[in-house]
Amino acid sequence: MKSIRKILFASLCTLATLAVSTAALAQAYPTKPITLVVPFSAGGPTDVVARTLGAAMTRSLGQTVVVENKTGAGGTIAAAYTARATPDGYTFLIHHNGMATAPALYRKLSYKPLADFEYVSQVIDVPMTLVGRKDLPAKDFKELMAYAKAKGEKVNLAHAGLGAVSHLCGVLLRQAMDVSMTTIPYQGTGPAMNALLAGQVDLLCDQTTSTTPHIKAGMVKLFGVTTPTRLKTLPDTPTLAEQGLPGFQVVVWHGIYAPKGTPKEAIDKFGAALRTALKDPTVAKRLDELGAVVPPDDKLTPTGLQTWLEKETLRYAPVIKAAGQFAD
Ligand code: MLT
Repeated sequence: MKSIRKILFASLCTLATLAVSTAALAQAYPTKPITLVVPFSAGGPTDVVARTLGAAMTRSLGQTVVVENKTGAGGTIAAAYTARATPDGYTFLIHHNGMATAPALYRKLSYKPLADFEYVSQVIDVPMTLVGRKDLPAKDFKELMAYAKAKGEKVNLAHAGLGAVSHLCGVLLRQAMDVSMTTIPYQGTGPAMNALLAGQVDLLCDQTTSTTPHIKAGMVKLFGVTTPTRLKTLPDTPTLAEQGLPGFQVVVWHGIYAPKGTPKEAIDKFGAALRTALKDPTVAKRLDELGAVVPPDDKLTPTGLQTWLEKETLRYAPVIKAAGQFAD
C-alpha cells in the first residue's frame, strides 16, 4: 500500500513539473533568437519572403528571427537539417511545393515530409514569370517559341535545382513548348537571376517576389505569367496559357514547419506571429506589390498546411513517376 502511494505521489510530482515547465515555456518563449531555415540562396524568392516576414515577426516575438540559408539538393538538405534539429521551438523551416515533390523525386530521402515535422501554417501563394536576358533576340513569347525551336539545346534555362519550383516550371515549359532547351542548376534563383542579368543564361522561370523589381526596372524581358488569369501587378502581360500553352499553370505555395516534437506553445506563438506579420500594413503592401497573395485564414493554421501538403504530395507523385523524373 505504501509503495502504491509512493508511485502515485511520484507520478503527480512529474505531472506537476511538466505542467509548470509547459506553462513556463508558454509565458517565457521565446527567450533567444529563433532560426528560420531557408532552403535556397540569399536574394531568391523564398529568402525574400522569409526576410520580409522574419523582420515583422521579430517585432512581435521580441526575439530576432534569424534567416539561415541552407542550400542544395532542391531544398532537401534544409528539410533534412530541420527534421534532425532539436525540437525546442528555436528552429523552423520555410519551404514550398518542394516539400510535396521530394518524396517522388528523391527515392533515398533521409526524412519523411509527412511524418517528421510539426506543421505551423501556410504562408503565401506566389505566381511565376518567364523572363529572359535583356538582349535575347525575341520580343515576345511567339518569337521566343520560334527562337527556342530553331536553337534547340543551345537555348538554356537557369533554375534552383531538382525539386525547386523554377526547375518544375522549366521542365513543364520545355514539354509544353515542345523544345529541347538545356537546364542549368544553381543553389537558388538568387544566383540564377544574377547569371541572367549578366547575360550568362537565356531564360528563368521564377516567382514574382524575385522577378518583379527586375521586370519593372527593365533589366529582363518578360514573356508571360504562369497563372490562369493576368496579374494585377503586371496587367499588360499575357498569361502563358493565353499565348499558346492552354492550361499551363504553376503557382507556388509555402509552408512553415518545425521538427517533430516541438512544443505546441512554440508552434502556436510562432504561427500567431506569422499571422500578425501577414496583416502588418507595410508587409502586406510589400507582398502585394511583389504579386504575392495571402491564403485564406483556414489555410494559415497547422491543419491548413497539413491537409494541403497531403493533397499536394498525392497530386505530384504520379506526375513525377510518369515523367520518370528522379533526382538521385
Ligand atoms: C525555387 O524553387 O525556384 C526557389 O524558390 C528558388 C529560391 O527561393 O531561390
